[in-house]
Amino acid sequence: MMTDLAPAKRSAGIFGHHPLRSIRARLLGRMLMLVGLTLASITGAESFILTARLNERVDRELAHDVDAFRSFATESAGGAGPVPGGVRALFLSYLQGHIPEHGQTLITLVDGRPFRRSAEEPPARLDIDRALMARAAAVRTPSYADAHSAAGSVRYVAVPVAVADDPARGVLVIATFTQQERGHINESIRTQIYLGLGAVLLSACVGWIFSTRIVAPLRILRDTARSIHESDITRRIPVQDRDEIGQLATTFNDMLDRLDDASSTKRQFMNDVGHELRTPVTIALSQLETLSDDPAARSRTVAVVTDELHRMHRMAEELLMLAKARRPDALRPEDLSLSELIEEVYVKAAALAERRWLLDFVEDPHRDTLHADRQLLTQAMIQLAQNAAQHTAEHARIWIGGRAEADAVELWVKDTGHGIPLADQRRIFERFTRAEESRGRTGAGLGLAIVKAIAEAHHGRIEVDSAPGQGATFTLRIPRADPADPKTKKSPKNPRQTP
Ligand SMILES: Nc1ncnc2c1ncn2[C@@H]1O[C@H](COP(=O)(O)OP(=O)(O)OP(=O)(O)O)[C@@H](O)[C@H]1O
Ligand SMILES: [Mg+2]
Repeated sequence: MMTDLAPAKRSAGIFGHHPLRSIRARLLGRMLMLVGLTLASITGAESFILTARLNERVDRELAHDVDAFRSFATESAGGAGPVPGGVRALFLSYLQGHIPEHGQTLITLVDGRPFRRSAEEPPARLDIDRALMARAAAVRTPSYADAHSAAGSVRYVAVPVAVADDPARGVLVIATFTQQERGHINESIRTQIYLGLGAVLLSACVGWIFSTRIVAPLRILRDTARSIHESDITRRIPVQDRDEIGQLATTFNDMLDRLDDASSTKRQFMNDVGHELRTPVTIALSQLETLSDDPAARSRTVAVVTDELHRMHRMAEELLMLAKARRPDALRPEDLSLSELIEEVYVKAAALAERRWLLDFVEDPHRDTLHADRQLLTQAMIQLAQNAAQHTAEHARIWIGGRAEADAVELWVKDTGHGIPLADQRRIFERFTRAEESRGRTGAGLGLAIVKAIAEAHHGRIEVDSAPGQGATFTLRIPRADPADPKTKKSPKNPRQTP
């Protein structure tokens, strides 16, 4: 039970998630935050602009009233002379003759103390606000300011008033109650906030629906990935759009194709190996089961069983060699002399069988070096030489050849044997494949697969040129410098002369 739960828990860690930590929730959260911030800053800016406009308008009206008072004072003075009765008389006559507008109140101060105010009852009595009166009494130039009263916000201007020949210092305060206008502004801002919240909520719902659609393929991707096991990688993700998620799904499907391929190649390989090993084992078993007491028959049986065991042993060695040649890190390239390589192959091949081995190589000292794995290339050539020996009669001619070109070298083994039918020429490079079975089995059919793997490890290729009855030429073409390695592009060093 414990062991069952552990992987489930782990997979929940990879795929399972808290709903708020999902991509969808995060995307949506950020989008809503952005919408919210935008709406909040628009609302803030609007409130600021409307308030500033209101103040501007009120200030204009107050300035207009101040101008009116100044004209009145000048008129009262009868030109430039002193006002009869001083500041107090000026204030009294002004308040008598001047009715403040609606929402406005006039207060006069003399020597820092409230003197008279306009007759109409204002929404709130400002003359009893000592702090406000003290602030107003202290002004030296006409000053505009905001204040708070029992009837809400107030905008006022305080104008110092002095009259010639009167030492008393007067101040006229014209105040406008702006609460009503401010109330309108606040109301519209509040409405806007409600509308904004509604918009955010609506965006959240619509965004959730949209993002559900957008991430749906991701969910399918996740579910498909979850449902894939080594035994079943046939499921594919449906690709609907060509957007990033569609591309991800396509990439994922491609990866599954490759895994599927690799998996079936592996299965096929195991199948082939099992199949190939079964034959020698069956032969050896049946021989041993019918082992007779006759010494001559016994030694025949031993010979057959030994032969089959040798075959299995060779197959095991070749399989290991094939696996090694296919490993990406198998290559141990070094700077080689082509002439030395050919000579080494020639000497080793000549020891394989009784044939007329010939060397087909003209040395070119300017193109003698190549960058390759000496051991693997020798192995490949020996496999080709072995095949040539197997498919030719005694004393038949076999050439071991080589040629250097500007960017590649060619190594070949040419025989005068029975050749290979065209239909078989492509097939024979696959493992466990032999042409013309009727001629009797000579090996496991792994030799050419090994040669091909070695050629591909060198970014090269193997080709066959043959026709039935006309011998066969197998040519290995290898780049002189490994194209994947820029270091090897330097000029070949120290070309050696062959004996
Ligand atoms: N020089 C050749 N002439 C004619 N046929 C050839 C020649 N070389 C290879 N073949 C054909 O190609 C088949 C595959 O060769 P390959 O070397 O892969 O396997 P093999 O020689 O049968 O076995 P192994 O090399 O594993 O011992 C051979 O069975 C043979 O039919
Ligand atoms: Mg072979």
